[in-house]
Parts: sequence; C-alpha cells; structure tokens
Amino acid sequence: MTQNYDKIVQDLQEVILEGYSENFKNEFLKPKNIGKIKDSDSYARITGVCGDSIEMYLVIRDGKISDIKFMTDGCGATVTCASYVTRTAKGKSIEEALRIKPEDVDKYFEGLPEEHKHCAKLAVITLTAAIEKYQSKLNKQMNRAKLKISHKEHGAK
Ligand code: FES
Repeated sequence: MTQNYDKIVQDLQEVILEGYSENFKNEFLKPKNIGKIKDSDSYARITGVCGDSIEMYLVIRDGKISDIKFMTDGCGATVTCASYVTRTAKGKSIEEALRIKPEDVDKYFEGLPEEHKHCAKLAVITLTAAIEKYQSKLNKQMNRAKLKISHKEHGAK
C-alpha cells in the first residue's frame, strides 16, 4: 500500500514538473529555509498580484544576512522561488542581497512559465522589503543616538 502510494506521488510529481529545468525540480523537491525565526532582526510579509503571500525573517550580523527563513501560502513555484532567493541571500551583505533580481531567479530556473514569473518577483520583493525595513530601523536608531549626542554637547541632561 505504502509502495503504491509512493509510486503515485512520484508519478504525480513527474507530471507536475514536466517541462521544468533540473534546477527547478531539485529546488522544488528539497526546498530550503522554510520556517520562522523567533527573534529576527527584520520581517516582511508581501502579498502578490495573485493574492498569495510570502513572509520572510532575517537575522543580520555585521551587515550580513546570517540567517533567513520564509513561509508562504503560495503555489509550488512560490516555495521554489523563495527557497532559491533565501538560499542565495544567506551569507551575503545586505547590499549584495539587494542586487538579487527576479531575472536572476528566472535565469537559474532556465525560464519559469509565464504564469509563474510573478512568483519570482514576489520572492525578491519580499526579501527587498525585509532588508529595507531593517535599514530604516537602523537609520532611526542612528538618528536617535545622534540626537542624544547633540543634546549632551549642548548641555542638556
Ligand atoms: S505567487 Fe501566486 S501563483 Fe505563485
């Protein structure tokens, strides 16, 4: 019974993945970085044109993305694209990660079908939003610190 079930699942996967590149199949079958990070440094949730959403959690140490996870209610292509985007961003500086483009995802997967190109966009936009949120948090902290210093310089207590 289990063997039959496994065979059915395998056959189904082959039908679903027909026409996709090897890179896509591998990522689809073993997606990375799915999950949440409890005390992340930044988080973003973006909903795409199709109504599906991706959430991303970032941990940033010394300007580099030391950990990254995502959750999605989207399609298999969304999981696959978000897996690739998070895998690519992990270990990179935030400036380098901001250079990841939907076209890079599309290229790596040797061309996503038209109806799934927006999944790559959604994954990249979510990463960008999470990084930008982190940068704006950092800027606010720096401005507050500057304000404190200038108050001290002017003798305020
Ligand atoms: S993100 Fe909606 S179909 Fe993939």
